[in-house]
Amino acid sequence: MGTVSCQISMSLDGYVAGPEQSRQDPLGRGGLRLHEWFFGLDAWREQHGLSGGEHTVDAEVVEEMTRDVGAYIMGRRMFGDGGGRWEPGWRGWWGEDPPFRTPVFVLTHQEREPLPMAGGTEFHFVTEGPRAALARAREVAGDRRISVAGGADTVRQFLAAGLLDVLQLHIVPIVLGAGEPLLAGLGDLRLAQESVVAGPTVTHVTYRVLR
Ligand SMILES: NC(=O)c1ccc[n+]([C@@H]2O[C@H](COP(=O)([O-])OP(=O)(O)OC[C@H]3O[C@@H](n4cnc5c(N)ncnc54)[C@H](OP(=O)(O)O)[C@@H]3O)[C@@H](O)[C@H]2O)c1
Repeated sequence: MGTVSCQISMSLDGYVAGPEQSRQDPLGRGGLRLHEWFFGLDAWREQHGLSGGEHTVDAEVVEEMTRDVGAYIMGRRMFGDGGGRWEPGWRGWWGEDPPFRTPVFVLTHQEREPLPMAGGTEFHFVTEGPRAALARAREVAGDRRISVAGGADTVRQFLAAGLLDVLQLHIVPIVLGAGEPLLAGLGDLRLAQESVVAGPTVTHVTYRVLR
């Protein structure tokens, strides 16, 4: 079975999104600063159909994050469109050719038909919780890795249920002060540090989740 991992950018005070997520601020107020470290990287730009960019140790981390991923899982707030009933026509934040290029299982309480996109991405909407999403992801991923892409609520549920093997934090030296805390309420979560990569503006720490 493929490893189940999460790679996520976190502020020094433990947030993966700022407060007040909205159409204008999908990552919440100030949250975009969590992602600034990768916008100029060649690896990220290539995944998003853009050319150019720098090839740094951070770019190698981004390449590794997406290598051999057979399915993604994310929460409905990461997919977008707030909450409640689906807004007609909402197809995610990423345009018609999202960067995932595999099936993506979206946790939600609102049923919805699968949504095929260009480039191999297909969004599936799962209403039965994290274990069901993981079972469906395993069916399509086979021995390839499964990436739990976020946000905080979704990752916390995977950690609480013991469903995550690897957690990689991209620790960004900013303080958000409020927002979506990644590790709140997880109690006695135990992690073993596996590796550290120090980039020029961000530090990537990989932990194995102990059961
Ligand atoms: N820093 C990073 O690298 C990073 C990475 C990914 C995302 N993000 C950010 O994180 C934020 C989103 O995180 P979040 O914690 O607010 O939310 P989230 O985990 O993306 O989504 C939570 C939503 O998913 C649905 N859901 C979750 N668990 C469920 C379950 N067991 N059964 C059914 N539905 C379930 C519910 O939606 P409904 O009830 O409304 O259907 C819930 O409100 C966004 O700002 C996003 O941009 C940051």
